[in-house]
Amino acid sequence: MKFNLTAQDKFSKARAGEVTTDHGVIQTPIFMPVGTAGTVKAVHQRELKEDIKAQIILGNTYHLYLRPGLHTLEQAGGLHKFNGWDKPILTDSGGYQVYSLTDVRKIKEEGVTFRSHIDGSKHLFTPESAMDIQRIIGADIIMAFDECTPYPCDYQYARKSIEMTHRWLKRCCDRFDSTEPKYGYSQTLFPIVQGSVYKDLREKSAEVIASFDREGNAIGGLSVGEPAEEMYAMTEVVCNILPQQKPRYLMGVGTPVNILENIALGIDMFDCVMPTRNARNGMLFTRNGIINIRNEKWKNDFSAIDAESDLWVDTAHTKAYLRHLITSGEILGAQIASLHNLHFYLWLVNQAREKIISGEFYSWKESMVKQLAQRL
Ligand code: GUN
Repeated sequence: MKFNLTAQDKFSKARAGEVTTDHGVIQTPIFMPVGTAGTVKAVHQRELKEDIKAQIILGNTYHLYLRPGLHTLEQAGGLHKFNGWDKPILTDSGGYQVYSLTDVRKIKEEGVTFRSHIDGSKHLFTPESAMDIQRIIGADIIMAFDECTPYPCDYQYARKSIEMTHRWLKRCCDRFDSTEPKYGYSQTLFPIVQGSVYKDLREKSAEVIASFDREGNAIGGLSVGEPAEEMYAMTEVVCNILPQQKPRYLMGVGTPVNILENIALGIDMFDCVMPTRNARNGMLFTRNGIINIRNEKWKNDFSAIDAESDLWVDTAHTKAYLRHLITSGEILGAQIASLHNLHFYLWLVNQAREKIISGEFYSWKESMVKQLAQRL
């Protein structure tokens, strides 16, 4: 993997760059659609590639390990072959999903035992198995096995937790560095900064994570219920320590406003279920604010879903029709709304990139943030 910085904003810490993987180039800042189980829910790979020009998607170790399972993924030749997505893939390590999806779990030095949310079967993830599984899935960028602390989290717990996450990182690196990719293209490992909302713990964690000198770095444990201002404060502290010359990935963030504010603080990569999950509930993100398409006010509104968008589906259909589909629970409603929201997120980060390059990012960001927060 290679990272080149293309431009840096003069009035903020925003940067534009390019991540090069064996499956292609990712222009940053970038948003990565979440494809938990080998599919971005309700959106076909061809739409991702051709309609909205997604450059990289996410997969989840936890889900893919449980279903379809490692044997199938290995027989298929990895996730790219299995799902027909030939551009870059990043996989999360399973840690976060184990904490958020399973209620029967035990965190020990060795790893985490949990019960499957599908059939209740018992499993153990360790730093070593998380590396082995992600080798088999075949993601271009794989994530370290970490503990994502909840919010709120008391100081002593958060301190002990980063110490374990750092010991786990050493085990991840040892395993990753002593094994080979399985399918002939290279893979890279990103470590994850933790430390809850404590400045000194975030600084300590960022220093340790930077000292591992991997090709990129991530920030986790944010957007877990803390106020946005605390999230921004932590991103700022960590970005001051993580190296300039490597990509920075802020995990699980966020709203369009969160994304712009974090780009301004020096983040290059984002992922979040919000555009797809909220789409299925009828929440549409647009450059003029948020639309709840279930609202009665759209019942007889025959204007385009989004007249300013260049996505074909946004002008091919009306708000009234999309409202009908969503309120009737029609599958097509979820498809249209998901494609719309992902297109909007990708438009937003691409605009940010262009504005960083042209030197207009900061003033553009300030006016966008006001616009985006409106309710239509
Ligand atoms: N996704 C969102 N936050 C996190 C985190 O802290 N750790 C991991 N592994 N994944 C995440």
